[in-house]
Amino acid sequence: MLVMTAIITNKKIAFISVHLRKNKSIQSLLPIKSLPMNILITGANRGIGLEMVRQAQQQGWRVFACCRNPHNADSLFNIARLSNGQISVHIADMLELATLQALSYELRNEAIDILVNNAGVYGPDKNRFGNVDVAGWLQTFQVNSIAPLKMVEAFIEQLNMGQRKVVACMSSKMGSMADNGYGNSYIYRSSKAALNAVVKSLSIDLKEQGIISVALHPGWVKTDMGGPNAEISTTECVQQLLGHINALTPADSGRFIDIDGSDIPW
Ligand SMILES: NC(=O)c1ccc[n+]([C@@H]2O[C@H](COP(=O)([O-])OP(=O)(O)OC[C@H]3O[C@@H](n4cnc5c(N)ncnc54)[C@H](OP(=O)(O)O)[C@@H]3O)[C@@H](O)[C@H]2O)c1
Repeated sequence: MLVMTAIITNKKIAFISVHLRKNKSIQSLLPIKSLPMNILITGANRGIGLEMVRQAQQQGWRVFACCRNPHNADSLFNIARLSNGQISVHIADMLELATLQALSYELRNEAIDILVNNAGVYGPDKNRFGNVDVAGWLQTFQVNSIAPLKMVEAFIEQLNMGQRKVVACMSSKMGSMADNGYGNSYIYRSSKAALNAVVKSLSIDLKEQGIISVALHPGWVKTDMGGPNAEISTTECVQQLLGHINALTPADSGRFIDIDGSDIPW
């Protein structure tokens, strides 16, 4: 009966969650998909992050949606406004690490089940041999590689208060050494390779706390970054990503996971 109700409406899922969190035996009878979650997503104002906010809301989850600039987040504010408080919008700028600390303090009493380090940049166009923009490289490193670790450090207590304890970092196949058949793109490739190293260390350092850390490749996605000729829509991408995130177990920690669920060689 509870399972039936959980499938019917989002509001009922939220209602059931109050009881399920207290009753593990009932919880284990349900498919993971229907469990209530608190999810925090960075870079949530457009692209993959914004679609993840939409789909997390459809699952009945509580969404902490982060953006760096509220003036560039109309779509996000529009869906948050209609969400009856299920989605809240917060500021987190990966180039201003103090904003991560401030957000952590703001959310100090909130459990975070899933932390999605989604915010990312491709970096400057000057990224080819003999023509690499050093200042832009350092900035890209801060956003793509350093800030994801700082997010986890800032939210470690909230993750420990959560049930799922998942850290999902949006990486890219372009960070894979084994997959690099074309060269170039020094800035983006190295920043995502560094992110992968961060994820691997997190999976070891946070193992005893039961925190699962993974690097995800979202596919080639039609966003501002992926461009219009990309292979999949954000809808398709996020459906698959959330499917993988929902199914994660501690044995998956430290994996670099492709959009089809397979392992990407480092
Ligand atoms: N699209 C693809 O094909 C593809 C493939 C592999 C991996 N990825 C990865 O997937 C993630 C999402 O990509 P996407 O395609 O959705 O990119 P996108 O459409 O360009 O969106 C990037 C998001 O990151 C945010 N962001 C950038 N710099 C930030 C900062 N300093 N602080 C906070 N947020 C910041 C952006 O916010 P603003 O609007 O304020 O700039 C935006 O919300 C990225 O990590 C990307 O590397 C994408």
